[in-house]
Amino acid sequence: MITLVVLFSLFVAASTSTEIPSRQTNNIDPCAIIGGQKWVSPQDLRACYTSFAVDPVIKKNIIDTINKTLAFHTSVNYEISAPEPFTELVHEDLLKDLARISSQLYPSDYDLHVDLSRTLKRLNDGHCVWINSCYALFLNFLPIPLVLLTDSNGTQNVHIAPEAFAVASAEFPDEISVWQEALPPAVQLQSLDGAKVLFIEGQDPFVAVDANALITGSFQPLGTRQNSFFSSYQFGDNGWTYIMGDFSQQSLPLNDSVTLVVQRVNETTTYTIELPYRARIDSSTVTFTDSASYRANNCLPILGTNGVDLNETSDSAAPLSQTVMKFQQQPSISKTFTKERVNVMLDTMPLSDVALPPSLTPSVPVVSGGFGSGQFYMLPDQITGVFALGSFGGDTIDAMMSGMLEGLVNLKSLGATQLIVDVSNNGGGFICAAEFLHRIIVGPKNTTVPQAGLDTEARDGPLARLIVQEIIQNNVDPEQMLLYNPANWNNASNVAFATDQDWLLPPVDLTINGHADAFSQRLGQECQPNGFTTIPPDEGLFPASKVVIVSNGRCASSCSLFSITMVKEEGVRTVVLGGRSDVQQAYCGTVGGQSTVFSEIDTEIKTAKLKNNTLAPPDLLVNGVQGITWRLGFGIQDPTQPEEWQLHLATLNLLLTPDLVNNPVAIWTNITEQLLSDSS
Ligand SMILES: *[C@@H]1O[C@H](CO)[C@@H](O)[C@H](O)[C@H]1NC(C)=O
Ligand SMILES: *[C@@H]1O[C@H](CO)[C@@H](O)[C@H](O)[C@H]1NC(C)=O
Ligand SMILES: *[C@@H]1O[C@H](CO)[C@@H](O)[C@H](O)[C@H]1NC(C)=O
Ligand SMILES: *[C@@H]1O[C@H](CO)[C@@H](O)[C@H](O)[C@H]1NC(C)=O
Ligand SMILES: *[C@@H]1O[C@H](CO)[C@@H](O)[C@H](O)[C@H]1NC(C)=O
Ligand SMILES: *[C@@H]1O[C@H](CO)[C@@H](O)[C@H](O)[C@H]1NC(C)=O
Ligand SMILES: *[C@@H]1O[C@H](CO)[C@@H](O)[C@H](O)[C@H]1NC(C)=O
Ligand SMILES: *[C@@H]1O[C@H](CO)[C@@H](O)[C@H](O)[C@H]1NC(C)=O
Ligand SMILES: *[C@@H]1O[C@H](CO)[C@@H](O)[C@H](O)[C@H]1NC(C)=O
Repeated sequence: MITLVVLFSLFVAASTSTEIPSRQTNNIDPCAIIGGQKWVSPQDLRACYTSFAVDPVIKKNIIDTINKTLAFHTSVNYEISAPEPFTELVHEDLLKDLARISSQLYPSDYDLHVDLSRTLKRLNDGHCVWINSCYALFLNFLPIPLVLLTDSNGTQNVHIAPEAFAVASAEFPDEISVWQEALPPAVQLQSLDGAKVLFIEGQDPFVAVDANALITGSFQPLGTRQNSFFSSYQFGDNGWTYIMGDFSQQSLPLNDSVTLVVQRVNETTTYTIELPYRARIDSSTVTFTDSASYRANNCLPILGTNGVDLNETSDSAAPLSQTVMKFQQQPSISKTFTKERVNVMLDTMPLSDVALPPSLTPSVPVVSGGFGSGQFYMLPDQITGVFALGSFGGDTIDAMMSGMLEGLVNLKSLGATQLIVDVSNNGGGFICAAEFLHRIIVGPKNTTVPQAGLDTEARDGPLARLIVQEIIQNNVDPEQMLLYNPANWNNASNVAFATDQDWLLPPVDLTINGHADAFSQRLGQECQPNGFTTIPPDEGLFPASKVVIVSNGRCASSCSLFSITMVKEEGVRTVVLGGRSDVQQAYCGTVGGQSTVFSEIDTEIKTAKLKNNTLAPPDLLVNGVQGITWRLGFGIQDPTQPEEWQLHLATLNLLLTPDLVNNPVAIWTNITEQLLSDSS
């Protein structure tokens, strides 16, 4: 039996046939039941997902790819047991995990996937995650996003968002009746807006919040992972979007229904309600009608899943796959292999395109300068400018830099003397755009010129070293496209390496959590002057004491680079929205330094003609992506250690009320009065 499966799988791999051994019985194809449907039940979706047995060849391929790609991830040994006080938040030995998963048996390929995905998510590092498009066909929804509100006595309770019905009826017009019919006749869905949630599945709601915090991943701080349960907003390239939160939007069909005890606004009686989750097909899912077409259309590698030899690619362009772009936490760009380096999160939850309801969308005057994911506003006090920045990516870097400068200069010329930068749900993007924003707000000084970001280091493993040697000795990268090309980097004194300088030698040898590790020498900045495509002004635009950075804590990657340098070097204050009052709130999550994905590492290896080296990851046989931190930023307060494990505590946790929650203008106005008025 085993032999048969292996032989069959080899055949599959060789012929890229679409048939994969399936465990279906009774001749009923569980994937045919959901094929062609827009809305399905999570039970039916799971029945399809779990109908495929583990294919040992594909299992080994995925584990090998992840394992060998992790050799390029800077943080593997740190994450075995992060330094105090982060140990409790990050303690995962990935190589041990992969060994366990290799030998473990799973009832289905889906169960294997859930274990792999959760294992990587336990790093709470949104750069280092495993995503398999095969299990991202549908998103699982409830029409009642939750929020954490604080009453007049300072008590915090979970509530159904006051705007829940406005959001759900606009987003799910074709499904809302299914949910309405599940409720008792006395309870109209709309009447649940703002209701207090006393119990979820018979328990205190925070039991569910904390259970989710253990599996949501991406952000180290517990407070931020708790906040991920709740709804929030983001300014994106489609305007203001509404993030449903992990309770009411799941990337996997984890839950079939939920039972809540609720108390509606101004009432004392309570109701027990049960609502079904409903799964909606994702816009990027390729249509299918049965198991075979599901696997063929959504599970096999696509253009960009694997890397290319840049010397053999006629257009010398290696596109990122649609899969990578879908899960990167920045609006997708038609990115080809460019030298504009990014630091950006990956998440199993794609960016939301649910609209923030009109009643909550800012209606204060827009100031020109806006671009893809950035917009400028002037508050009615005529002295507070707001820069809403949902991403450091998604537009061209030129448009971002020129827009940032234009918008801030316009705010100033209209009379703004103080600035709120709202980076809610900003998952990063271009590194140089983050450094540019720091530089133009505070002006030229020793913290912004030449280095407005963090010094970094790359991991110095044996295969990385061979890539550098191939570049130097065999000129495999004449266009200087590769990450490992010395021509692309500066040393710690910000002097460019010579094109034949082996920057990985000698390595910096360290022992981390008992493991021998090696890193490159310290790297300086690479953004100035040429990476700044707009010339920064000679004077700062706003005094740091008059700048406040606000978010729901879900600011990471390049957003962390911007916020951390603004806070620790310039003294800027920060606000986190709506966190639990007895949990420390951090103004940013994962830091990293520069992120990349398996396919880009594979391009380095193939271009250096090293694909047959035993340390090289194989080509992936599935439509998946493994992300990594390629360079890790050094700290500001302790410059000898990574910034990743230094504190980022917010100045203020703004407790949310029904008037404030998910209402950007109300929030900005409150922050202006609390932190930027003359008396504050
Ligand atoms: C991962 O790679 C290491 C070598 O770097 C090897 O020793 C280990 O067995 C691999 N683990 C798995 C699960 O393949
Ligand atoms: C606040 O506390 C007082 C006294 O315990 C109580 O009467 C009141 O109902 C509470 N208010 C709220 C909004 O819970
Ligand atoms: C969802 O499912 C998970 C795992 O099966 C369970 O732990 C959790 O309590 C469920 N959540 C809800 C809201 O039912
Ligand atoms: C609840 O009561 C307050 C005060 O009477 C009123 O302003 C508000 O409109 C009521 N809200 C709802 C949903 O009934
Ligand atoms: C490919 O390699 C050849 C020989 O080294 C070189 O002349 C050519 O410029 C390379 N082409 C590209 C696109 O890198
Ligand atoms: C930067 O300048 C400030 C004064 O403006 C000085 O206190 C500080 O030591 C300088 N830092 C460095 C690294 O030169
Ligand atoms: C950077 O390179 C320059 C020129 O080779 C050298 O003088 C300087 O010492 C180097 N800085 C570091 C930190 O290695
Ligand atoms: C790897 O491939 C190169 C040619 O690309 C060849 O010269 C070399 O011998 C191969 N190495 C191994 C270990 O097979
Ligand atoms: C700001 O919001 C808080 C609730 O978090 C509220 O207590 C306070 O009165 C508000 N302040 C202003 C000035 O609106």
